[in-house]
Amino acid sequence: MTVHAIIGGTGLTQLEGLTLHEALQLDTPYGPTSAPILRGSYAGRDVLFLARHGHPHRIAPHQVNYRANLWALKQAGAEAIIAVNAVGGIHAAMGSGHLCVAHQIIDYTWGREHTYFAGDDLEQVTHIDFSYPYDEALRGKLNAVLQALDYAHSSHGVYGATQGPRLETVAEIARMERDGCDIVGMTGMPEAALARELELPYVCLALVVNPAAGKSSGIITMAEIEQALLDGIGRVKAVLAGVLSA
Ligand code: HPA
Repeated sequence: MTVHAIIGGTGLTQLEGLTLHEALQLDTPYGPTSAPILRGSYAGRDVLFLARHGHPHRIAPHQVNYRANLWALKQAGAEAIIAVNAVGGIHAAMGSGHLCVAHQIIDYTWGREHTYFAGDDLEQVTHIDFSYPYDEALRGKLNAVLQALDYAHSSHGVYGATQGPRLETVAEIARMERDGCDIVGMTGMPEAALARELELPYVCLALVVNPAAGKSSGIITMAEIEQALLDGIGRVKAVLAGVLSA
């Protein structure tokens, strides 16, 4: 049985219903993880959980130690990663509360530690294939559960990963839309690529928490984002439970 790890994003810093077996504070060559890795059972299955921004939420997207997080999850026995990401909606179908199983990603981030192959030894550099950044089998499982639960969702979507922590300008979102992005978030990269470097199957379950800049009549408020998280996170957890017990 595959050991899944869940990386919880904004609004998912803890997993109620997780029967905790241990909290692992692992040393990595890259420094500390965002929080201890929790090992326990959820929906009757062994699972690992890590709060991407720490618990309580305190680490900004550009300051998350993605390399340490993925490394430690692998060390702890993770065989597959389900990443949960709060995002803004760009495509008209991606209204607040919508769930999206991304199938592609465009990386607009910069200056992040984004590879394990950063040494001086060029012989060691591996150019991973990243044509299809997300694991198709896991995407299929997520989509089957979303379908069975009858939740509003998109089985595909292009995730645009921005640097943050500020939100985007209207022009930036317009450009991202021209690029083909459907949703926008700040944590999709380098996480997905690092998982691939470690040969960990990885999938992204995105919850839309606001219309992206220029996609509604007003500006984006933290209050609206927090409300959408409160409204949507129960559905995210139901999907996770469904996938784990499948
Ligand atoms: N932009 C970038 N990241 C986000 C957004 C957004 O509109 N909403 C939630 N995360």
